[in-house]
Amino acid sequence: MRKPFIAGNWKMNLDSSGAVQLAAEIVKHSSAFQGIDIAICPPAVYLLAVGGELENSAVALGAQNMYFEPSGAFTGEISGPMLRDVGCRYVILGHSERRHILGETDAEINRKIDAALAVDLNPILCVGELLEEREAGETEAVVEKQLSGSLQGISASQMSSVTIAYEPVWAIGTGKVATPEQAQEVHADLRRMIRDCYNAETADAVRIQYGGSVKPSNAANLLSQSDVDGALVGGASLNIEDFLGILAEAT
Ligand code: 13P
Repeated sequence: MRKPFIAGNWKMNLDSSGAVQLAAEIVKHSSAFQGIDIAICPPAVYLLAVGGELENSAVALGAQNMYFEPSGAFTGEISGPMLRDVGCRYVILGHSERRHILGETDAEINRKIDAALAVDLNPILCVGELLEEREAGETEAVVEKQLSGSLQGISASQMSSVTIAYEPVWAIGTGKVATPEQAQEVHADLRRMIRDCYNAETADAVRIQYGGSVKPSNAANLLSQSDVDGALVGGASLNIEDFLGILAEAT
């Protein structure tokens, strides 16, 4: 069975004391949530401080992005080895805000996944369609293109370190959550694509998170779907009661 995996994506929010305080609260309560994996992904400038709070806890540290080169003259960028150096185990790659606001392509995301895996960082690869793409009946084709483009050259054994997050863009930060049936349909499609590209064993093992307006009130129904293995939580991960509520639903 796949172990549920809940990750909080704090995006570009909080200040240093707020980030440390939120991390400390999560750690304080984390022993109540057995049998699930938990990660939090603060802004890069707070990784070290938040990581200090997570030491000796079951809560893992993740980053929200990285560059594909390991070092060099890339002003403003942060590399995989740097993320490892400050204690990251996960890195979110290909988030829709990076695809649509910052213009990231599947080819760039693919290089980042490769670079993350090379330093033992576990990528959380995000895919998801725009509202107009859903309305045009293109959801499956869109996520298939994102998935195959981002995973070019990644082997079946490397896939054991990859988590996929299905985040319909129309559900992110809008309060408009996908229905459990809508999520399940796309998750099942994604798992079939992994089976077709790799094999049944890889498809059965890969964890697929849902992201987009997840809250304590809708988490149980989403997580009860057979192909929904966890959640990538934005807004609700910034509120301690909401995040703990989602962890409780996953446990
Ligand atoms: P919200 O939970 O705020 O909709 O954000 C989802 C998300 O983008 C997580 O990566």
